Amino acid sequence: MKRIVSGIQPTSGLTLGNYLGSIKQFVQMQDNYEMFIFVADLHAITTGLISPEELRQNTLNLVRSYLAFGLDPNKVNLFIQSTMKEHAELGYLLMCQTTLGELNRMTQFKDKSAKFQKEANGTQKLPTGLLIYPTLMAADILLYSPDYVPVGIDQKQHIELTRNIAERINNKFKTELFKIPDIIIKKEGAKIMDLCDPKVKMSKSATTHKGVIFLNDPIDVSCKKILSAKTDSLNKINYDVDQQPEIANLINIYSCLSDMTIDDICNKYANLGYKEFKQDLANLLQDFLSSYQEKFKTYNDDYVRDVIEKSYTKVKEIAKAKLDEVLEKLGFVNYEKC
Ligand code: TYM
Repeated sequence: MKRIVSGIQPTSGLTLGNYLGSIKQFVQMQDNYEMFIFVADLHAITTGLISPEELRQNTLNLVRSYLAFGLDPNKVNLFIQSTMKEHAELGYLLMCQTTLGELNRMTQFKDKSAKFQKEANGTQKLPTGLLIYPTLMAADILLYSPDYVPVGIDQKQHIELTRNIAERINNKFKTELFKIPDIIIKKEGAKIMDLCDPKVKMSKSATTHKGVIFLNDPIDVSCKKILSAKTDSLNKINYDVDQQPEIANLINIYSCLSDMTIDDICNKYANLGYKEFKQDLANLLQDFLSSYQEKFKTYNDDYVRDVIEKSYTKVKEIAKAKLDEVLEKLGFVNYEKC
């Protein structure tokens, strides 16, 4: 079986973008791939903004969400990143093989740092974690030698950097230490946009949450966001990302939630207006969220702990073996062997 690795940060509640861009794919792949899916809790502290209680709660909730969306712990290795200390250690080693220029060029770093206010003297207090985040992400991936990494389009640049770092180390130390992973981006859910601004992706860190659907919010709040989503004045259900980006985004969401093709949706609504379309989309979302939220409630802390324990030994063995191999290649003394 080919191997898959991917993760999500427990920074705050999951969004519809997170589900459509990643979890939906994980669920579809679990029968045919060896899966390593984790909660990227070490990533959640890179902005320095999350409280310990929030971190703990969000981490456990993200495991619950994975389960509620249908990840089967008998098929998938579900784990919490920080329980495998190897991630942080390999992250450090990879950071030392990466240049400042490479990290400064990451669009996500530029976007996220722009949100930190400037001081009166023009300087900015940027957490270093924001900058070195991609090398931790590279470690998350390379530790498990995956064939593929399924993500939304916003993570593409980080995966490319991961491939570059891996190739560089392989060349520099004349080894085949790291397998070079391929990225998988599924076209339909690759980039779900904000419902109020189709120029930006739907994101947990948006300044206003009006255009962001949080999966654990009360369902009527989320349905209202669909009904009041920004649309143009053409009142024509047409998939044209350049001319009608707002409605194209809603059609995309509709397609992902119903598994209907975009053409079929456009045909179905050819003679109807935005009001009917949005109402149907809100109904689809309501069904989807009710089923998810029902299941979410059923997993207590003990069950979550059992799930995490189940894959712990196997994941640990793989992570430790790879880290030991890297340490040896890079020249670190293994006192157990010398
Ligand atoms: P994160 O937590 O921001 O997002 C998790 C996943 O959701 C996707 N995503 C979206 N897809 C479509 N439309 C959107 N609006 C949208 N918003 C988010 C993301 O592309 C991602 O696939 N650094 C990663 C987490 C991570 C990771 C890894 C992923 C850490 N280590 C190793 C893969 C492999 C992140 O912050 O994703």
